[in-house]
Amino acid sequence: MSRRRFTLFTAIFLFAFSVPFLAGAAKDPHDQRLKYLSSPFEAALEMLQKQIGYNFKRIEVLRRAMTHPSFSEENNRALSILGANVIETSVSLHILRKDIEISPKDLNRRISEISNVESSCAIDGLRLGIHKVIRVSPRTNSSIPAVVCGAYRAIFGAIAIDTNKSDDAGNVFWIVHGGDIGRALAF
Ligand SMILES: *[C@@H]1O[C@H](CO)[C@@H](O)[C@H](O)[C@H]1NC(C)=O
Ligand SMILES: *[C@@H]1O[C@H](CO)[C@@H](O)[C@H](O)[C@H]1NC(C)=O
Repeated sequence: MSRRRFTLFTAIFLFAFSVPFLAGAAKDPHDQRLKYLSSPFEAALEMLQKQIGYNFKRIEVLRRAMTHPSFSEENNRALSILGANVIETSVSLHILRKDIEISPKDLNRRISEISNVESSCAIDGLRLGIHKVIRVSPRTNSSIPAVVCGAYRAIFGAIAIDTNKSDDAGNVFWIVHGGDIGRALAF
């Protein structure tokens, strides 16, 4: 191999090798850094998918769900709103199917019990170990209920986006949370 050819090959090789880095850096510097330097985050996402019994077709949606606004502009805030709606719909549906005569007051109480930041939602989230997965800024405590709940809800928003069906996300919620409410409501 001539020297020039060798140099060309080296250049091509180096270029090919660096493309994913450059592409990642252009998209999101935080993401890029974590993806290549700390695969523990990716490993934690794998584990989380096993725990919730749902495998993402687009892992980047779950990655976003596990990103707090303090960490990146690309974060879980909007997914968390969708997720809260998915949860409320799923809970309302199950409760009303069981008891169509329930009073609006009782229905609202049940819904708030399940989506309450200080109780159910944070407990579910901590049980899944979300505080150990979510990416936050160094100054943010990832165990506080608001952070855990935001990410917990965002998981279901992310599933709805991944499947394009809020019902599918509601079903996963029901399985993740259902152990408890299932018993409480005797389904
Ligand atoms: C983080 O928040 C949790 C839950 O509110 C609390 O128990 C813990 O002490 C906090 N940790 C720090 C370092 O402030
Ligand atoms: C998502 O669902 C909507 C409404 O059912 C449908 O119009 C749309 O084509 C779906 N998109 C994909 C990518 O499946």
